[in-house]
Amino acid sequence: MTDLIQKLHWRYAAKKLNPAKKVSQEKVDRIIEAVRLTASSSGLQPYQLFVVTNPALLEQIKAVAWNQAQVTDCSHLLVFAAWDNYTAERINMMFDLTNEVRGFKNEGWESYRQSLLNSYPQRDADVNYEHAARQAYIGLGSALIAAAYEEVDSTPMEGFNPAAVDEILGLTARNLRSVILLPLGYREEAQDWLVNLKKIRRPQETFVTEMK
Ligand SMILES: Cc1cc2nc3c(=O)[nH]c(=O)nc-3n(C[C@H](O)[C@H](O)[C@H](O)COP(=O)(O)O)c2cc1C
Repeated sequence: MTDLIQKLHWRYAAKKLNPAKKVSQEKVDRIIEAVRLTASSSGLQPYQLFVVTNPALLEQIKAVAWNQAQVTDCSHLLVFAAWDNYTAERINMMFDLTNEVRGFKNEGWESYRQSLLNSYPQRDADVNYEHAARQAYIGLGSALIAAAYEEVDSTPMEGFNPAAVDEILGLTARNLRSVILLPLGYREEAQDWLVNLKKIRRPQETFVTEMK
């Protein structure tokens, strides 16, 4: 078994984190960097990460997240917030950044920009938000793997009221919508009912279909 697969067996959605144990800034930075480097559709990276450590904000978020204790016991709470819509400004921002970083304009890339400008902003905002949120979930996958790699515990969470979190963090004013929460920290084994239970996954034979 490779180190990575071993660490993916080790990771689980921690139910009890030790509030006294803090994750080092270096590890948090590397987990965030893994998210930043994640692939996204057309490279638009249509989401942002918020790193919440403010105790008062964490208390407010826990109250709208089914009172899940990991929200306040964690060391850092990552909030994945997706663009609420695709606008021409947002699309142009990423295409302009590409040209600036690469130092040249490319005809094919510019015509691809036009095709996105001619289709995305005209679509329903909810369709665009759903597309952006799917990209945030890909980032979540990276964060889960990176946290395991760093031997940091985490709990992916959809169990919260997104509109309430948007309000608490002022996301609506930034044209963002919260998608998923990811508390980071260290497991408190003695108080976690899940830590010693076997991981449940369907066997490869029923999960993978080979078509040779
Ligand atoms: C998108 C998503 C949302 C989840 N929401 C919650 C949640 O709100 N609270 C929680 O305790 N676990 C949550 N989980 C954890 C899953 O229940 C868990 O990942 C799954 O049962 C597999 O177990 P494992 O991650 O421990 O291997 C969520 C997982 C994902 C991927």
